[in-house]
Amino acid sequence: MLTKRLAAVAAFVPPGAVVADVGTDHALLPVYLVESGICPHAIATELNDGPYRHAFANICRYGLEEKISLRQGDGLAPLCPGEADVVVLAGMGGRSIVRILSSSPEVLAATRRLILQPMTDVGELRSWLADNGWRLVDEDLVEEEGRLYPVIVAEPGREEVSDPFLLEVGPRLVEKGHPLLPDYLERLKAGYEKVLGALSCSCRPQALAKAREIIKKISRLEEVLALAGSDRCGDSRNRGGAGTA
Ligand SMILES: C[S@@+](CC[C@H](N)C(=O)[O-])C[C@H]1O[C@@H](n2cnc3c(N)ncnc32)[C@H](O)[C@@H]1O
Repeated sequence: MLTKRLAAVAAFVPPGAVVADVGTDHALLPVYLVESGICPHAIATELNDGPYRHAFANICRYGLEEKISLRQGDGLAPLCPGEADVVVLAGMGGRSIVRILSSSPEVLAATRRLILQPMTDVGELRSWLADNGWRLVDEDLVEEEGRLYPVIVAEPGREEVSDPFLLEVGPRLVEKGHPLLPDYLERLKAGYEKVLGALSCSCRPQALAKAREIIKKISRLEEVLALAGSDRCGDSRNRGGAGTA
């Protein structure tokens, strides 16, 4: 049984695809994908000894040693180019995900879909994808134990960025008027306000410049929030405008 967060990731795996779950930890995602018949086989990779052993134990427990290839190593390094159609990186920071993707260009070039579930620095990750030939084909938000988790699906292609600020909040989330978007935006805003509070204690010129940048971001967030909020109230007049925020 998958958690809601991992179920949201699994929902974006096309049936029949070979998936590599990078940083698999417990290997619950590949076990689910193979057991349910969504994937004929899968690859699970893990850097650290403890989680590697945990993954091995779970794969054996389900008798899936023939169908899940477990490998130890850093990021995409244990994969050969073209071996996996889909690469999943879930439960890691956005910057770690960027580092892992940038470190193995040959494997990345042969990947047809990325399913990413970053824990932090989500805007930076979206910007990296858009700058490096990845189109954001879909996004989701899932709530689990009071926390909101974004899921990003990217495929090779060109992301048309009409407004770079939207990469901060999730262009597909805004377009589809995701029901959890207002809550997500409120939390992003609270995060910015916290940083602003800390910066207000400093009178260094860099802190002032950063504070100005954050004030601008808060005001942009409020614009998107107003549109997302009015969408929630069923005001369809504003729907087209959300994409231009
Ligand atoms: C928080 S867990 C997430 C596990 C699982 N993907 C999930 O979403 O539930 C992150 C896992 O990534 C592994 N990890 C961290 N850096 C890694 C890297 N560079 N390459 C492979 N695995 C890594 C950690 O050891 C840990 O098991």
